[in-house]
Amino acid sequence: MPAAILGGLGTYLPPRRVSNEELADRFDTSDEWIRTRTGIRQRRWADTGQSTGDLATEAGHRALKSAGLGLGADVGLVVLATTTPDHPCPATAPDVAARLALGQAAAYDISAVCSGFVYALEVAANAIEAGRVDTALVIGAETYSTILNPHDRTTSVIFGDGAGAAVLRRGDAGQLGSFAGFDLGTDGANKDLIWIPGGGSRQRSTHQEPEAEERYFAMQGKKVFASAVRRMAGSSAALLEHIGWSVESVNHLVGHQANVRILRAVAEQLGIDSQRAVINIDRVGNTSAASIPLALADATGQIAPGDRVLLTAFGGGLTWGSAALTWPDISPV
Ligand code: ACO
Repeated sequence: MPAAILGGLGTYLPPRRVSNEELADRFDTSDEWIRTRTGIRQRRWADTGQSTGDLATEAGHRALKSAGLGLGADVGLVVLATTTPDHPCPATAPDVAARLALGQAAAYDISAVCSGFVYALEVAANAIEAGRVDTALVIGAETYSTILNPHDRTTSVIFGDGAGAAVLRRGDAGQLGSFAGFDLGTDGANKDLIWIPGGGSRQRSTHQEPEAEERYFAMQGKKVFASAVRRMAGSSAALLEHIGWSVESVNHLVGHQANVRILRAVAEQLGIDSQRAVINIDRVGNTSAASIPLALADATGQIAPGDRVLLTAFGGGLTWGSAALTWPDISPV
């Protein structure tokens, strides 16, 4: 049986570190509140002039190197998950593909907010399993610093910028690195729990210019917290049952780094020892679609080839998704 195999992993973080103390100078908040309520100690923010496409290109290039490939590699598909594209139109992925000299590879963006990377993995894995492409580049990249409301202390302390990318190759089911399955879902009735209300066609159809505040990212944290735990745990459990993996057999739970309390609650609901939950939110914050590849790359020292890895994410839409794979023998770049 053909399967998609994880063949390489690359990440890029913008150099500017933003500490909790720096944010406490700007907002009515404190290092203590941010650490205890979210688990975050610092995040990276892109410098002026550095776009999502710039971060994505760097992470994509590093993933190609990690897979033993380089610029101009024979890649048939580029899927970029992002909430913060370089432009409302066109998608950012074709520009990234061009900058990586990937010829005329199919390239498009996926908009599933913090679940975007898992959605993009599923799309790329399907294309490989169906025999449409042999190699795909999946990227999650975000510059949330460009959409944060400078008057909203809650969202401003949570989000960070960054990018992570994976190379997927055609291989066989059961091979190290193979994806065993996916579970995806949405709840559009609750779209306004996480959104940017203004600036899209819904608002333009009223012929009213959006207020400045409506162009910023907004989130109802408490409701999102409860949904995030329920959906990530539910999706993970459904996937494990579908592919016949027991909870005990999962070596590492790599959840979307939304909040350390959410990650612990998901592990607890699933019955997975919290020691097996990968956590790097303390260093990078919530990087939305980049969160899972950044956590995977950070955890590589702890994950051994052949280990069973469960990915799970939740985000705006509302969207959620989980993926399961056995870990390959790769070194992230
Ligand atoms: N500093 C100090 N106080 C703050 C801050 C801050 N930065 N932010 C909020 N507070 C205050 C609130 O005003 C409130 O004060 P009040 O009680 O006087 O009204 C108090 O802290 C508690 O606020 P809550 O919103 O109840 O705080 P909570 O413990 O729920 O933490 C948080 C807020 C961190 C946002 C949490 O709800 C959370 O992590 N939610 C989920 C986020 C998530 O899962 N995101 C993933 C999806 S995101 C995406 O898809 C892009």
